[in-house]
Amino acid sequence: MTRLVTTVEEMQALRESARVEGKTVGFVPTMGALHEGHLSLVRRARADNDTVVVSVYVNPFQFGPQEDLQRYPRDLPADHKLAGSAGADFVFAPTDAEMYPAGFQTYVEQFTLPKRLCGRFRPGHFRGVLTVVLKLFHIVRPTRSYFGQKDYQQSVVIRRMAGDLHCGTEVVTLPIVREEDGLAMSSRNRYLGVRDRKDALCLSEALVIGEAAIRNGERKASAIVDAMRERIGRVKRARIDYVACVDPETLAAVKTVEGTVVLALALHLGKTRLIDNRLVAP
Ligand code: PAJ
Repeated sequence: MTRLVTTVEEMQALRESARVEGKTVGFVPTMGALHEGHLSLVRRARADNDTVVVSVYVNPFQFGPQEDLQRYPRDLPADHKLAGSAGADFVFAPTDAEMYPAGFQTYVEQFTLPKRLCGRFRPGHFRGVLTVVLKLFHIVRPTRSYFGQKDYQQSVVIRRMAGDLHCGTEVVTLPIVREEDGLAMSSRNRYLGVRDRKDALCLSEALVIGEAAIRNGERKASAIVDAMRERIGRVKRARIDYVACVDPETLAAVKTVEGTVVLALALHLGKTRLIDNRLVAP
């Protein structure tokens, strides 16, 4: 039985019992609408730890005013079941009032990393992510926490914060789980209509094209990015935020590919914003 926990106090008490019993705790933070990508993290947490906590919380502070907070898919009973089937012991699903008590005014700021890639198009987003993840780390005190490479920049900023602020949790990043045709799984894929779903293939296909260019010896980042943009350009309605070839640690744009790079992109199809990335070692 997977226990549903809704208050910070109860979660902290359960965590304390695990500590007294000498148990390791694996933690998978999510915003729910769970899919195989999330569940791959839960299964890995199950394999590595004595106790597994999955949080399901749609964090309002990481959504911009024009973003999809209102329509973000929510189905706690389904998520509770799915998390349990993948091995979660506890599903922590607090209310907004529980997470952000009245008068709340403390945030986590990071200087450089959040300004790159998605940060340029989603001001305040990573401040919201870092703040809620730090709060969750304080509540759950995980031995290990699990994040997906799907949100590559997020995994980098969180790893940085965990080190900078001595969070005492090992940050583990796991590979992107994809649909059979290559589309990266995402809760936001639920928004896609039939035509969007077809057009959305341009993300993963552009990344395959970028990787092939590197494999074929191309080292000029601008040429790699152009090849990726060409594929996306075939979907006329795709509105690109960025297509980039960046350093895996600093997330700064690379001019010439010398070591491993991250090919990353973000675009809008209608009202839906999609992201994807690929790590490529030349
Ligand atoms: P959410 O988008 O629900 O994602 C939760 C975790 O699942 C993240 O670490 C994300 O990278 C991972 N994930 C999503 N799709 C994946 C896929 N196809 N393959 C592998 N992993 C995947 O990311 C968030 O929530 C929030 O920002 C959060 C960290 C919970 C803070 O609110």
